[in-house]
Amino acid sequence: MSEILKVLKGTKDILPQDIDMWHFVEKTAEDVFSKYGYKEIRTPIIEVTELFSRGVGETTDIVNKEMYTFERSNRSITLRPENTAGVVRSFIENGMSRLPSPVKLWYKGPMFRYERPQAGRQRQFHQVGVEMFGIEKPVADAEIILTAVNFLKSLGLSHLEVELNSLGCPKCREEFKKKLKEAIRPYLNDLCEDCQKRFETNPLRLLDCKVEDCKYIYAKNEIQDVIMSDFLCDDCKAHYDELKMYLDKLNVHYKEDKHLVRGLDYYNRTVFEIKSKSLGSQNAVCGGGRYDHLVEQLGGEPTPAIGFAMGMERLISLLPKKESKRLDAYIVTNFKTDGFIFAEELRGEGLNVEFDLANKKFTKQLEKASKIAKYALILGEDEIEKHHVSIKNLDTGKQVVVNRADCINFLK
Ligand code: HAM
Repeated sequence: MSEILKVLKGTKDILPQDIDMWHFVEKTAEDVFSKYGYKEIRTPIIEVTELFSRGVGETTDIVNKEMYTFERSNRSITLRPENTAGVVRSFIENGMSRLPSPVKLWYKGPMFRYERPQAGRQRQFHQVGVEMFGIEKPVADAEIILTAVNFLKSLGLSHLEVELNSLGCPKCREEFKKKLKEAIRPYLNDLCEDCQKRFETNPLRLLDCKVEDCKYIYAKNEIQDVIMSDFLCDDCKAHYDELKMYLDKLNVHYKEDKHLVRGLDYYNRTVFEIKSKSLGSQNAVCGGGRYDHLVEQLGGEPTPAIGFAMGMERLISLLPKKESKRLDAYIVTNFKTDGFIFAEELRGEGLNVEFDLANKKFTKQLEKASKIAKYALILGEDEIEKHHVSIKNLDTGKQVVVNRADCINFLK
């Protein structure tokens, strides 16, 4: 016998018994995002590598360690690790800056990151997300957060907490980085190798390190006390205050996390995450923020923008399991041709119907019907002769005989 091949580590099949949950999340995303005026966009899963090195940032873990990159025709190509950069590329390439502002786009689909797989973390995972272009005002930030919260509510997840911070603009962030480095410098030799590099290339990411020795150092008061909000310039502070005012007025609960920085380099001002206590260490279901410089950085006209993405696997793991959808009817008969024709008639009327293709005995057919359908439609000798059908409700066991022509109305 040939060797059985297995799914790659960190990837998963989405099986038929789970697909209804995925459809539910995707349909809810479409419904809620449409309410806020978003249109769906589908961009390719492969993009030129430079899009991510320039967009997400050379010094991020995503670009440094986690991308699936390969060469074709002397071009370096990468499986998208996230979709903001791809949507921005498409926004620029398709001249969407000429559309009435704001331009609101939503997406769903697979992303790829070569991370160490664990509960809630996969190498191929799926996101739903939104991106809004053209509005610099904090009211857009408030609407984005509200969109995320209302999407989660519509899924039945209303107990999740929004964590909020402002990263300021590049100018006020420089001062913050300087002060943070000053506080950390005395411990530099005790930090892990990655943090020693980050100290020079991306000091904002230092506090996110998961190495115990580093965590112990960063927990020191003199480091914890260096917080971005103390360095916000007047404009950035006013932006952040106005956002919080809107959230308060709309009763959106949030917690300020003064050390929230996010793992991608494009953010400025507002950043946020939505977390669930029941998810263990990979507890963020949503991450997002403002990226006012990315469109310009990728060659477009300066355009303010903001968005978020949610991990679909993490969302689904929080939802109560839905029973798989059942067929409307299963035709039980020994008269194969009649059964075949009747099934096609019913399908033509929009019903989901199966009949026995395997030539099983009558009782076996009935057994199968009770596992996968709401009704068994029985065509015995008597029914065939009178052009009737016996309809058996497979939940209650009740059975009625009707004219075949009335069957559709009955089932509908
Ligand atoms: P992110 O925080 O990297 O942001 O990812 C967003 C969400 O995707 C996370 O909160 C998590 O739920 C899910 N996720 C990320 N990595 C994995 C993984 N390895 N396995 C399972 N789920 C994962 C972004 O991707 C940004 N593009 C979000 C954004 C949109 N910012 C502005 N616009």
